[in-house]
Amino acid sequence: MTPLIAGNWKMNGSLTEADRLAVLAAAQSRVEVLICPPFTLIGEVSRRLAGTGIAVGGQDCHAAASGAHTGDVSAEMLKDAGASFVIVGHSERRQDHVETNEVVRAKAAAAHRAGLTPIICVGETQDERRAGKANDVVARQIEGSLPAGGKAMAIAYEPVWAIGTGRTPTASDIAAMHAFIRRQAGANVRILYGGSVKPTNAKEILALPDVDGALVGGASLNADDFFAIVCAA
Ligand code: PGA
Repeated sequence: MTPLIAGNWKMNGSLTEADRLAVLAAAQSRVEVLICPPFTLIGEVSRRLAGTGIAVGGQDCHAAASGAHTGDVSAEMLKDAGASFVIVGHSERRQDHVETNEVVRAKAAAAHRAGLTPIICVGETQDERRAGKANDVVARQIEGSLPAGGKAMAIAYEPVWAIGTGRTPTASDIAAMHAFIRRQAGANVRILYGGSVKPTNAKEILALPDVDGALVGGASLNADDFFAIVCAA
């Protein structure tokens, strides 16, 4: 499987950084690269990255195609703006917007309807890991959040306690969780690791079995750091 390195800019990012990415992209073609800017930048970033091989994605979408949903954006609108992927069920959305597995599944199905590839995020909290419940929590999230139909999708395993903290699980914990997810999700689903991926730890993490790429937050905001991670894959 070709590795996928995805950058999640969250509520950050600028066109200057997108231009720098476009320059760096020319240096590689082995890895699939995706950048997920905030909604307001998707159209312009798509235009600036056209022809570079870097795909553009959304960070969320509404489950409906259109309608009276003030402030929301549909998967069809993302597609129209140039996106080919969308992240759904990120733990920050699950927490800040109280998104349940059912909501995440509907958003992933909406992505398929619009012709986007959903990246479905799962991951346990620190308390859940300490209580020995990490596998149960992730299994329930996968069971509840994955859409039916066998269309292309990726899963991002992002332990909540590793996001933005500089902490990561041990290599053997990452490998064990990815093998566990692989058994549930099947051979054709890309399984990304996310949570404090940096140029310094990317090589070790990306070499682990069943790790098919990374979802990178903080380190994707700097084009040089992000490309160091791409080159580590
Ligand atoms: P981080 O975020 O790389 O800053 O830990 C990852 C994510 O939330 O996708």
